[in-house]
Amino acid sequence: MQIILMGPPGAGKGTQAAELVKKFGIPQISTGDMFRAAVNEGTELGKKAAECMKTGALVPDEVTVGIVKERLSKADCAKGFILDGFPRTVDQADSLNKILADLGKNLSAVLNIHVPAEDLIERAVGRRICKNCGSTYHVKFNPSHKENICDNCGGELFQRADDNEETMKNRLSVYENSTRPLIEYYKKAGKYTEIDGRQAIGKVTEEMEKVLSSVED
Ligand code: AP5
Ligand code: MG
Ligand code: ZN
Repeated sequence: MQIILMGPPGAGKGTQAAELVKKFGIPQISTGDMFRAAVNEGTELGKKAAECMKTGALVPDEVTVGIVKERLSKADCAKGFILDGFPRTVDQADSLNKILADLGKNLSAVLNIHVPAEDLIERAVGRRICKNCGSTYHVKFNPSHKENICDNCGGELFQRADDNEETMKNRLSVYENSTRPLIEYYKKAGKYTEIDGRQAIGKVTEEMEKVLSSVED
């Protein structure tokens, strides 16, 4: 199954992708996570990405498409994958069509998590992530049992550098200008479903699983 999880920054793509990985046993491909890993490793890619991520701008399409193409050709993607945060521009979506055609695969579903703009800043600013295993929490909506300690592995929680109000405003405007047009793009293509992301995390997962239970591979 080849799934795209779309939605504005902070909508819950990463949170839901983690649940779908458990359910379907296919990998989550998060371009944001890949860029953050490259930044931590200090690679050339990381240096390029860091400049863009700091302000909330998009990493150039050719760089992003290149890393996705390479990642999707790996053996663990053979049975499918969950794209989280890619594509984000019409050019990236066109490139994804070509990558899928080369791999002999179809798109199974595009799930767009809808959350109103006024909720998104609070979601991002309150987000906490485990340094060790990457589990995502929220200080108000999904707190860890012990403050700043991961329930899953006991690791320390941290806040993403771009999860502040100022950068988040820019990320939201980049979303409006560059990524929102993909809603029409995928509506036209067929396999598009909108999911109400204001529901509790478990409810959102349930709704996604219901949609996915009836899609073709
Ligand atoms: P990326 O890491 O993809 O960030 P994003 O799209 O801004 O999305 P987030 O990760 O912030 O949000 P999310 O939807 O995953 O929400 P989450 O589940 O964590 O990208 C970062 C940067 O990398 C970009 O700005 C860009 O520079 C670059 N980049 C990445 N991809 C690129 C691409 N394709 N092209 C070019 N550049 C690219 O949830 C958020 C919070 O809300 C959490 O605290 C969570 O616990 C909470 N929450 C989740 N669901 C709910 C719920 N139902 N109710 C209440 N709280 C909830
Ligand atoms: Mg994410
Ligand atoms: Zn952890």
